[in-house]
Amino acid sequence: MLLSRLSWLACLAGSAIATSPEQWRSQSIYFMLTDRFARTDGSTTSPCDTSQSKYCGGTWRGIINKLDYIQDMGFTAIWITPVTKQISKTTKYGDAYHGYWQQDIDSLNSNYGTEDDLKDLASALHDRGMYLMVDVVANHMGYAGSGDNVDYSVFKPFDSQKYFHPYCKVSNYDNQTEVQDCWLGDSTVALADLNTEREDVKKMWYDWVKSLVSKYSIDGLRIDTVRHVQKDFWPDFNKAAGVYCVGEVFEGDADYTCPYQKVMDGVLNYPIYFPLLKAFQSTSGSISDLYDMINTVKSKCADSTLLGSFIENHDNPRFASYTDDISLAKNAAAFTIMDDGIPIIYAGQEQHYSGNSDPANREAVWLSGYNKDSKLYKLIAATNAIRNHAINHNDKYLDYKNYPIYQDKSTLAMRKGYKGTQTVTILSNLGVQGNKYTLSLSDTGFDAGTKLTEIYTCASITVDESGKVPVPMAGGEPRILYPSSELKGSKVCS
Ligand SMILES: *[C@@H]1O[C@H](CO)[C@@H](O)[C@H](O)[C@H]1NC(C)=O
Repeated sequence: MLLSRLSWLACLAGSAIATSPEQWRSQSIYFMLTDRFARTDGSTTSPCDTSQSKYCGGTWRGIINKLDYIQDMGFTAIWITPVTKQISKTTKYGDAYHGYWQQDIDSLNSNYGTEDDLKDLASALHDRGMYLMVDVVANHMGYAGSGDNVDYSVFKPFDSQKYFHPYCKVSNYDNQTEVQDCWLGDSTVALADLNTEREDVKKMWYDWVKSLVSKYSIDGLRIDTVRHVQKDFWPDFNKAAGVYCVGEVFEGDADYTCPYQKVMDGVLNYPIYFPLLKAFQSTSGSISDLYDMINTVKSKCADSTLLGSFIENHDNPRFASYTDDISLAKNAAAFTIMDDGIPIIYAGQEQHYSGNSDPANREAVWLSGYNKDSKLYKLIAATNAIRNHAINHNDKYLDYKNYPIYQDKSTLAMRKGYKGTQTVTILSNLGVQGNKYTLSLSDTGFDAGTKLTEIYTCASITVDESGKVPVPMAGGEPRILYPSSELKGSKVCS
């Protein structure tokens, strides 16, 4: 009995390795800085002053103990910040608590726990049918001096100057050679830029990523600073990893960013991020720019369903730093989950955290007390629930590319899914002061007489005889419609 259970688990763990883009398309990701999500002692009071840029004590064990909080919000995967050993010195910009200043790629960051803790995190996730995504950095190592004054011997395994590009600072982002060959950071903290054109450096990275993924049963990778490495480095890196990879190309121009999807499975959807933020950061934002960008991304990226969708992360100011309007925050989160692509919600977003630029946007989540009654926690849980249901209910749901069907000055409506099992999402930037009114919506694809459920309010709506849907709007809240008869067996509005 015990043996069969163990072999069954081993089999599950085995299948979790080499997790494909196809398997990731249906996931929903909760992203956290390991140092800032949960502590081993479970404290909800341990102070964390973001302005200090010091370790606050979050661990992998802490994450294991808080997986219910994540899974109950409807997430099926987590993305954690880099796991590698970091430089230990304190710089003028603080410590390497975030994980992007690595020193030794073959050792783990002991602040987060041990090898066993990380392996236990992977198994705890797999036991729940969830996936582990780990952040990796191949572009650079940490800070070991600037200019001619770098102590390369501290880096492992890249322990000599020969593995690195000569020092110069990235300052002109229009010059791609400079973006790739110069160093990130500034003269205070410069990040040693690897010469990824060298065959030995390539081989070291490919061997490393293959063994990292297998050793810790990792299901997917988020790859940092992708645009800072030449494109031809990536296909073999992605192949060596053997799992879905989503890259950070921090650029809103779809003509620049989409081509990176030819060298790896997916990229973070920065082209949508900027118009999404603009549309909802105020009650006068442009809906039409967002509407247009949905179509632009669909036509310019190889596969919009494998992009990573987000409105917050640790590199950009939190949404609530622009506006404290809760309705606007709900709409931005709803869009993120219902658009094409794999939704990514950044830990603390569900608590309406409002930190501005790095480091203020890296608040400790434990200080919220992991409140599951917060408005955004509930909104995110409901939105993940309908998306998860639509995916499980019709295996073609994700193949249908998000189709914007209506816009006016303050409203965007979009459809995803084939006729009869589609979701129709209606977003508004009127804000909490928005009027109560009925929007008469055409082009939803629903037949006259169909009974629909609005999944946030659980209101029943019937499509009228001309095929128009009377959508009750109020307080600038988002709406999602789904055929009532297709909700049977789900927990949505039951
Ligand atoms: C781009 O940057 C490289 C490296 O710094 C430099 O050699 C080159 O002259 C730059 N090109 C242009 C067009 O500025």
